[in-house]
Amino acid sequence: MKTTVSLIKADVGGYPGHASVHPQLISAGKEGLEKARKEGLIKDYHVMAAGDDLQLLMSHTKGVDSSEIHGLAWKVFEAATEAARELKLYGAGQDLLSDAFSGNIRGMGPGIAEMEFTERKGEPLVAFMMDKTEPGAFNLPIYRMFADPFNTAGLVIDPNCHGGFRFEVWDIMEHRRVFMETPEETYSLLALIGAKSRYVIKRVYPRDNHPKLPPDEPVAVVSTEKLYQIAGEYVGKDDPVALVRAQSGLPALGEVLEPFAFPHLVSGWMRGSHNGPLMPVGLKDARCTRFDGPPRVTAAGFQVADARLVGPVDLFDDPAYDLTRKRAARIAEYMRRHGPFEPHRLPMEDMEYTTLPKVLKGLEDRFEKVE
Ligand code: F6R
Ligand code: MG
Ligand code: MG
Repeated sequence: MKTTVSLIKADVGGYPGHASVHPQLISAGKEGLEKARKEGLIKDYHVMAAGDDLQLLMSHTKGVDSSEIHGLAWKVFEAATEAARELKLYGAGQDLLSDAFSGNIRGMGPGIAEMEFTERKGEPLVAFMMDKTEPGAFNLPIYRMFADPFNTAGLVIDPNCHGGFRFEVWDIMEHRRVFMETPEETYSLLALIGAKSRYVIKRVYPRDNHPKLPPDEPVAVVSTEKLYQIAGEYVGKDDPVALVRAQSGLPALGEVLEPFAFPHLVSGWMRGSHNGPLMPVGLKDARCTRFDGPPRVTAAGFQVADARLVGPVDLFDDPAYDLTRKRAARIAEYMRRHGPFEPHRLPMEDMEYTTLPKVLKGLEDRFEKVE
């Protein structure tokens, strides 16, 4: 029997503003998932928070895109929204863009990363949760885990990793996808995923020649929902999540975490309109404060055991990442000094999906022709 792990998240109310999740929402989440566990629908669960996003991590045997599991998540988000409304939390129900659940949660507002796989003898899994940024923020770290020998020593010295990996990349503007294999297609892959607001890594697979793993079971998956495309107007950033398996022919746990030692620039932050450094933090520090940020990433580590989620270990709650956090704070300071100027503020084509066009519209009549 294969195991499925589903990480489904939504902002159903911030506390205060867009900073964090109120404990009562976490309690509502736990209550709903505990009931589902007792009824046998899911095997195990963990409710977590990253910034203002409520995170439901569930393990089960229903496969991906199960209407029962998606329906459960939707019901739990609705219950949490009720709690948020009572407390008048900020933007209560924000990410639930539809009034009724219709079988699949994709395209309805919440972000989702899920994968089904055959459990190995030991199955380490990391749930990454980001706030105040977009799915393309995972491009650089996922690329580095599975394709960069300067990050992942195993690509060079472990025969089980040496053959490389297969990337599934989505063009989220044109709703199409392409599969590419590394190391042969490294340059073409980078040509796409460097444009992170359009091309996003959706999944990574072992290649056909992998000595230990089946080529059709993903080893990493990223949520790729774009809220603005769903809602048709700006309703907040689509803060992404990802699941990554590690060890035994895959990048080691430390190779999976290593890319986050570099606080790369991502877009999001204040009003979803600014570039800023991605700061890795422990779950207790996943609160977005300065200028509604800076963007954060948390990592919860588990061993999966017969569909149980043994953990979590709060992987970035570690002095080894102190220097990264300090660097991120310095970069945040530097970027902030640009105020409303690019490249702190996003380029015009990305601002199209924010509230800026409404402001510019008011100026339209004032322009006159220059000969
Ligand atoms: C970014 C985010 C916040 C809000 C900002 C303004 O993803 O959620 O930075 O954009 O706090 O929020 P409103 O317009 O709700 O006052
Ligand atoms: Mg919010
Ligand atoms: Mg958020």
